[in-house]
Amino acid sequence: MTVVVAGTASKDLAQKAADLLKAKLVEPEAKTFPDGERYVRIAPKIEGTALVVQSTWPDANLVELMFLLDAARSAGAKRVLAAVPYFAYARQDRRFQDGEALSAKVIAQAIGRLCDGVVTVDPHKELLVDFFGVPARHESAVPQLAEEFRRLDVDTVLAPDKGAMVRATKAAEILGCQVDHLEKTRLSSTEVVIKAKSLDVRGQRVAILDDMISTGGTMATAIRELKRQGAGFVAAACTHGLFVSDAASKLKAAGADEILATDTLPNPFAKVTAAPALAQGYKFLEGTK
Ligand code: R5P
Repeated sequence: MTVVVAGTASKDLAQKAADLLKAKLVEPEAKTFPDGERYVRIAPKIEGTALVVQSTWPDANLVELMFLLDAARSAGAKRVLAAVPYFAYARQDRRFQDGEALSAKVIAQAIGRLCDGVVTVDPHKELLVDFFGVPARHESAVPQLAEEFRRLDVDTVLAPDKGAMVRATKAAEILGCQVDHLEKTRLSSTEVVIKAKSLDVRGQRVAILDDMISTGGTMATAIRELKRQGAGFVAAACTHGLFVSDAASKLKAAGADEILATDTLPNPFAKVTAAPALAQGYKFLEGTK
């Protein structure tokens, strides 16, 4: 029998995943000591697999995930799986300069040592799953986002850069619409223009789809440019909505007609759920036993 353990960062999402899997939800006891140290305990005995759901941002939630994985073992789980809806540090997935930490790998290895498998959702790059040292699977919330694009009558999906084309293409295939990526062209030492590589966006209803919106800087620049080029409607969409400080106001000021994210992190724009992706990843990992 599988139980879903709800980390405090991902309570609602854990409940939704448990509902989909028809599994029991366990809410651990969790508290923070006066000095800031975290404590967790899973009181009910676990007999089969524990699927621990917890995003790892900000850092305190990473610490809690690690404790929960250990606690699940201590509560009797035969198999412990980590469902990490948003895996922080995924962008530092290589050493860009000598002397840098390979943060994504350090964290992934630490998590991998505490569990038997990992599922994550729309990681920045797919190579992340190779870092855990245990069976790991990435699943996608793009199908759910694409359904929301359909409701918004989107006719063009744009990736903010070439690297993000896989997700944008998947959404466009679901919608049966056109897809392209944005490209920055330097006109002079002071002037750059950002536009869709080969599509004309004039009058189009566009969704820009990124893995994450953090400060909103990337998205705001893209929205402003697309509006300037005559796009009729622009939705800013992502799987992971961090919306750090004034990110949402930045997007609105740039002209976003719609802001859309999933619930891998709690945020005011979480209009679709990543629970089906977690459930799918869980089923895959259970199949690898
Ligand atoms: C970058 O490679 C990512 O895919 C996002 O485009 C970026 O991290 C978003 O960050 P921000 O919202 O701060 O521009």
